[in-house]
Amino acid sequence: MIHSAFDQWRSDVVARVNSGLTDCLPDESVIPKTLHQAMHYAIKSPGKRIRGLIACASGDLFAGNIAQVIHGAVAIELIHAYSLVHDDLPSMDDDDLRRGQPTVHAAYDEATALLVGDALQPLAYNVLANQSNKLSSETRLLQIDLLSAASGSNGMVGGQAIDLAQIGTTMSQSELELMHSKKTGALFTASAEIGAICGPEYNQLFEKQLKLYAQQIGLGFQVVDDILDAVSSTEILGKSAGKDLRDNKPTYVTLLGLKRAKQVANELAELAEQTLRELPRRGGYLSDIASLIFNRDY
Ligand code: IPE
Ligand code: IPE
Ligand code: MG
Ligand code: MG
Ligand code: MG
Repeated sequence: MIHSAFDQWRSDVVARVNSGLTDCLPDESVIPKTLHQAMHYAIKSPGKRIRGLIACASGDLFAGNIAQVIHGAVAIELIHAYSLVHDDLPSMDDDDLRRGQPTVHAAYDEATALLVGDALQPLAYNVLANQSNKLSSETRLLQIDLLSAASGSNGMVGGQAIDLAQIGTTMSQSELELMHSKKTGALFTASAEIGAICGPEYNQLFEKQLKLYAQQIGLGFQVVDDILDAVSSTEILGKSAGKDLRDNKPTYVTLLGLKRAKQVANELAELAEQTLRELPRRGGYLSDIASLIFNRDY
């Protein structure tokens, strides 16, 4: 089978992200062993590494060196993995399947799952602070600034709070968009910027378009997630399908219906392509990533 340049690049980056993730974790034999084993369990599960790919594609677009960009990609995937471990907890979405395997609290216990998330967060910032490359201290600090802002109460965690508070209610499309932009879009935007600032060819002239692209695909990613929850199977998704409806969660599908939700996703895909036209090489691999996001089936 012939692979496109993007397929080859993607499998190389995913392999680098995976080995970076493994390298930064304390060994499973180190005390407290159960916590460290559970961290390995959460991190090594087969995530798509989309956020890491965005960071690396964005770095590549501005001539960043992959050996430098990869640490940012690893840090983002650590934060994302922690967010999933907590998202699945009984006090949140109460899910027992993630990435095709029992969730951390199901395989271990609830306290361990909380601690796994608690430990993955500072590890992410430690990776950014200690990266063994020539990235300037200023760039590292900016990466820490971007990631902490995107994952906190004005970003991902804020979106999660809105999500939980809105169970059983009806939201307007703009309220839903704000929630999705925070819980999913914020980390996508941080991913794009964290990668871009490693590139010598990046400058502020590109910032607006790059962020706009990331917001469009971030929102689109969550709209597609809502659609897949409604139409796909647990087997394909590797997480419980039909869960949003069962939990009475306001989603793009419950608000607009399946057909209109798909139209919104297509519109966002089109907008993202338009946005990329204003960037060098029409966004390079960022364009392939957009196609991946909008055409995925898990
Ligand atoms: C799942 O994200 C959570 C959402 C924001 C919808 P992904 O679908 O990227 O999860 P993994 O990392 O591939 O498991
Ligand atoms: C979670 O959204 C987004 C996060 C910040 C973790 P969902 O609750 O829709 O994610 P899934 O469907 O469980 O992956
Ligand atoms: Mg959730
Ligand atoms: Mg969930
Ligand atoms: Mg979901």
